[in-house]
Amino acid sequence: MKTGVTGATGQLGRIVIEKLKERVSSESIVALVRTPQKAVDLGVETREFDYSKPDNLAIALKGIDSLLLISSNEIGQRARQHKNVIEAAKGAGVKWIVYTSILHADTSTLSLAGEHLATEAALKESGIQYTVLRNGWYTENYTRSVQGAIAAGAFLGSAGDGQISSAARADYAEAAAVVLTGLNHQGKIYELAGDEAYTLTDLAAEISKQTGKELPYKNLPEIEYAGILKSIGMPEGYANAIAGWDISASRGDLFDNAHQLSRLIGRPTTPLAKVVGISLTKPS
Ligand SMILES: NC(=O)c1ccc[n+]([C@@H]2O[C@H](COP(=O)([O-])OP(=O)(O)OC[C@H]3O[C@@H](n4cnc5c(N)ncnc54)[C@H](OP(=O)(O)O)[C@@H]3O)[C@@H](O)[C@H]2O)c1
Repeated sequence: MKTGVTGATGQLGRIVIEKLKERVSSESIVALVRTPQKAVDLGVETREFDYSKPDNLAIALKGIDSLLLISSNEIGQRARQHKNVIEAAKGAGVKWIVYTSILHADTSTLSLAGEHLATEAALKESGIQYTVLRNGWYTENYTRSVQGAIAAGAFLGSAGDGQISSAARADYAEAAAVVLTGLNHQGKIYELAGDEAYTLTDLAAEISKQTGKELPYKNLPEIEYAGILKSIGMPEGYANAIAGWDISASRGDLFDNAHQLSRLIGRPTTPLAKVVGISLTKPS
């Protein structure tokens, strides 16, 4: 039985490979990667795999029984790219696809949700057995801004009092490894989120506590926040998207209290305080 992991050189994919190696033999894992030079340290078989090159995908999937399709980071291209992979998987006889979607993809107002829903629909239509991991926000999405916030003297955002049930990348990666190596996950859609919900005011308070510096949360109108992100060099489309995602967070789109993630991994999700602590000692 061979398990293929796409996006294995990405931040999530690398941890998935680590967690899979703790559960099954390295010989049964295949890293499907766009950039093979980046994969030499993974310690598993590597095959070249670019979602945008459909002609090569089926060959790379030969002999793969279970496939973890980690969603692409090329926003706007993803529905097509994921469809390429699903069609190739069908041609190559892959028996099961596990896909990393987004929390509450069917009701979320996040601009990211559409491409994930389109992929979920393509999975359904494919006739291949599938499992959907609707991953919530990574806590690291916010903690990567900690150093900038300290420099600016405030944590900025537009998420208001929205409750955010994020978890660490490592929690979602472990869930993927648990599902890929477990039984009876076919046909299921998991809504995965952290055990603990917080607002950006709570996050700023945690940073203040750990640094000993008074760091307030400053809530801004969407346009103003996007403007500040652009002024520090962020491309316009990305700045607008980030501010928009905060508006979705303010509506509760990043909240979930069903605890499916901690149930899957058999332990509590990584606390916010721990991820903040890591960001202070090892800035990304
Ligand atoms: N839940 C969240 O909060 C959250 C946050 C950010 C992203 N995401 C989603 O979750 C995914 C995994 O997260 P991450 O942190 O691991 O992201 P990441 O570090 O940006 O990794 C993305 C991976 O996708 C690969 N990729 C991109 N385009 C590809 C293509 N055309 N063909 C094949 N592979 C391609 C990249 O390959 P290279 O290594 O060659 O670049 C990389 O390995 C992201 O891609 C995104 O869809 C979720």
